[in-house]
Amino acid sequence: MNLLAGKRILLGVTAGIAAYKAPDVVRRLRDQGAEVRVVMTHSAAKMVAPTVFQAVSGHPVRLSLWDEQAEAAMGHIELARWADYVVIAPATAHVLAELANGLAGDLLTTLCIVTRAPIVVAPAMNHSMWLSGATQANRARLAGRGVLFVGPGTGSQACGESGPGRLAEPAEIVQVLTDHANAGRSGLLAGLHVLVTAGPTREPIDPVRFLSNRSSGKMGFAVAEAAAAAGARVTLVAGAVSLPTPAAVERIDVESAAQMNDAVMSRAQRTDIYIGAAAVADYRPVSAPSQKIKKNSDSLDLHLVKCPDILAGVAALDNGPFTVGFAAETERLEEYALDKLRRKGLGMIVANLVGDNIGFDRDDNSAMIFWPGGQEDICCMSKADMAAVIIARVADRYRTARSKVTPLPRTRTS
Ligand code: C5P
Repeated sequence: MNLLAGKRILLGVTAGIAAYKAPDVVRRLRDQGAEVRVVMTHSAAKMVAPTVFQAVSGHPVRLSLWDEQAEAAMGHIELARWADYVVIAPATAHVLAELANGLAGDLLTTLCIVTRAPIVVAPAMNHSMWLSGATQANRARLAGRGVLFVGPGTGSQACGESGPGRLAEPAEIVQVLTDHANAGRSGLLAGLHVLVTAGPTREPIDPVRFLSNRSSGKMGFAVAEAAAAAGARVTLVAGAVSLPTPAAVERIDVESAAQMNDAVMSRAQRTDIYIGAAAVADYRPVSAPSQKIKKNSDSLDLHLVKCPDILAGVAALDNGPFTVGFAAETERLEEYALDKLRRKGLGMIVANLVGDNIGFDRDDNSAMIFWPGGQEDICCMSKADMAAVIIARVADRYRTARSKVTPLPRTRTS
C-alpha cells in the first residue's frame, strides 16, 4: 500500500546547487500516488527552469505572491491549507534563517508561516555554512518547533570541498514522509487530536518575582512526543520550561495558570483527549503591583487566591474530551490519586511520588495508573518509555469509554 497515495505535498525549492535533484523528488512522490505542487524562490528558478517542475508535477509552478492569475486560481492561504506536508528540498542557509525568524518576505516563507501541516526540510549547502553558529542555531530553533530535518549527508560537495551539507538522497526524503504518514495511519491514536499541558506555571508577585514549582516538564513533553509517535495530532501547552519541542507537535507557550486555562479552554471542545501533565499552581497572588516590591518592612504578607482547576474544568465540559490527570504526591499516593479521579470526574489518572531525588527533573520515574475499575503499576523506567506505556493505556481507555457512545474513534483528515 502506498502511504503517500492521495497526500498533497507542497515542495519548496530554494537556490542550492542541489536543486537539480529536486525534480527527482517530485517524480518519486508522484510514483507513490502523491499530488505535488511546486513553489520556487526566484533564485532557484535561475538554477532549474520552472518548466522542468511543471512537467514533472503536472501543475504550474508558483514563484511569487504577486502573480494575480495564480492567486485567482488558488490563493496563497488556500495553498498553504491545501498541503498535507510542506517539504523544502533543497533548503538553503538563507531559507532556514528566514523560517527560524518567522520572516514571510516571499511566497514560500509565507506559506510556511500559514500552514499547519508538518514541515520537512532537507538542507543543502557548503559544509562551512552548515556548521556555522548561525545555521546551527537556526536548525536548533526550527527543530525545537517541530520542523523535521532530513540530512544533510556528508561527502564531496559541488564546491569541490568535502563535509556535511549534501542534500539527502531523494529516496531518503520520500522515506521520511512515508514514515510520518505510517505513524499517522497505524498508530494507536491515529486520527485523534490530543491536547497536552506540561511544565510549571508562574504566578507573578511583581514584575520580577513569581511563585512556581519544581516541575521540569519532562514527563509532559515525553507524553506529547509519544502521542505524536502514536499518530495523534498533538497540541502542547507548555509552562516555563527549557525543553525542545517534540517533532511534529504544535506548541503554545504560556506562563500563568490563567493563561494556561485560556489556551486549554479555547481548544478543549475540539480535541478528543486532554492530558493535564502540567504542575499548575493551586494559588496565585491576588494581584501583582506594576513596580518591584521594595524590602522596606520586616515581613511581607502575600494574599493568595485559588487558580482555576483546569483539569476539573475540562472534565466537566459537555461533550468534552477524554480527560487524563496527573497526581504528584509526597505520601498516600493511591488514596489521593483515587480521590482526584473521582472528585474531578477523570477518565484516568497517573500518580507518582515526588520529593527529594524522586520524580522532579529526573529522566526516569515510577508511577501507578488508575481508571474507574482498574489500575496498572509502571516501575522504574525512563520517562520516554513510561510515556509510551501511558499513551497505550490512554488509547485503550479512550476506546473503551467512547465505545459506549460510538463504536469507532472519530477520524479526521489532517
Ligand atoms: O489537585 P491536584 O493539583 O493535585 O491535581 C493534579 C492534576 O490536576 C494534574 O493533572 C494537574 O495538571 C491538574 N491541575 C489543573 N489545574 C490546577 C491544578 C491542577 O489542571 N489548578
